[in-house]
Amino acid sequence: MSFFAAFIYRQFIHEPPVPIASFKDKTIIVTGASSGLGLEACRWMVRLGASQVILACRNVDKAEAAAKDIQATTLCSSDTLKVWHLDMSSYASVQVFSDRVKTELPRVDVFIANAGLGTRTFRMTEDNEETITTNLISTSLLAFLLHPKLRETATKYSTQTHFTVVGSELYEVAKFKESKAPAGQLFATLNDKSKANMFDRYNVSKLLVMFVVKQIALLSPISSSEVIVNCVAPGELHREIDNRAARIAIKLLARPTEVGARTLVHGVSVGPESHGQYVPDCKITPTAGLTKGEVGVELQGRVWVELRQKLEAIRPGVTSLS
Ligand SMILES: NC(=O)c1ccc[n+]([C@@H]2O[C@H](COP(=O)([O-])OP(=O)(O)OC[C@H]3O[C@@H](n4cnc5c(N)ncnc54)[C@H](OP(=O)(O)O)[C@@H]3O)[C@@H](O)[C@H]2O)c1
Repeated sequence: MSFFAAFIYRQFIHEPPVPIASFKDKTIIVTGASSGLGLEACRWMVRLGASQVILACRNVDKAEAAAKDIQATTLCSSDTLKVWHLDMSSYASVQVFSDRVKTELPRVDVFIANAGLGTRTFRMTEDNEETITTNLISTSLLAFLLHPKLRETATKYSTQTHFTVVGSELYEVAKFKESKAPAGQLFATLNDKSKANMFDRYNVSKLLVMFVVKQIALLSPISSSEVIVNCVAPGELHREIDNRAARIAIKLLARPTEVGARTLVHGVSVGPESHGQYVPDCKITPTAGLTKGEVGVELQGRVWVELRQKLEAIRPGVTSLS
């Protein structure tokens, strides 16, 4: 299906089903849960019986207000929801957060890497342009740092655990001109402000994080860890659009956030067949765009070589999942 046909199908024909999976006894972490999809996904999982939900957010006051809102609408116990600080623009914060998860939580069943941003402004955080640091590097760092905890939970409680990344359908239209860079220069090129195409940057970040999901599945097959790693996409909600006319049009066409959030809940309920897969609209779907064919395999390899170096520089040994 073409990108446009898929858009029409998503926005007008198919509505993600109401989630019914049980999250009884489960401990859940959602990043960027202070608003939008993250907040609504937390609300769903509390309704579906989760025993502990951690809202991992950079703005603690905003997250506390979100937790109160969930409590008021679901009438859950105040102990069910906790707010923990996490700033994805800081590798130190990501590591402090992960260490806290490992030491303070007896189990982690579900991790939704939802925090993300799209911006036309070029700004550096840590060693990369901000979109790349937040949507790709910190998200990948969390996946590798917490994989052992998810594996431990799966073994200890004879279950399967999930690490689900919130991607975007827009990965498919990423142009990624920076991929023409010489070997070993992908990130250096993305970090060159004079060459940056910030209209494409968000799409590129979602393309690259899709490669990471596929790469983790290669490094840690489901048979060896019982940790399911997948990537969901929620359909178009109105907030990603800058252009005024497009914003008005999309507002008319867009899904309510609660409906988009069902796709996140589905991603963490779906079985091992989703490992390493793309699951937009609650359906496992072959990936397209620059992930396709030999070109996609080659590009994934190049991205991984450079990303691995970055992750190892932040926390040596983090990428060995065995
Ligand atoms: N909206 C759409 O149409 C759409 C479509 C496809 C995919 N998505 C993806 O869905 C996810 C959620 O987006 P949304 O639409 O729900 O938007 P949103 O309401 O803006 O939520 C984004 C969340 O990410 C957090 N965040 C951003 N930068 C962060 C950082 N450095 N550290 C920690 N948290 C950070 C935000 O925190 P603050 O509240 O502190 O800013 C916020 O809680 C994103 O990954 C987005 O790319 C959205």
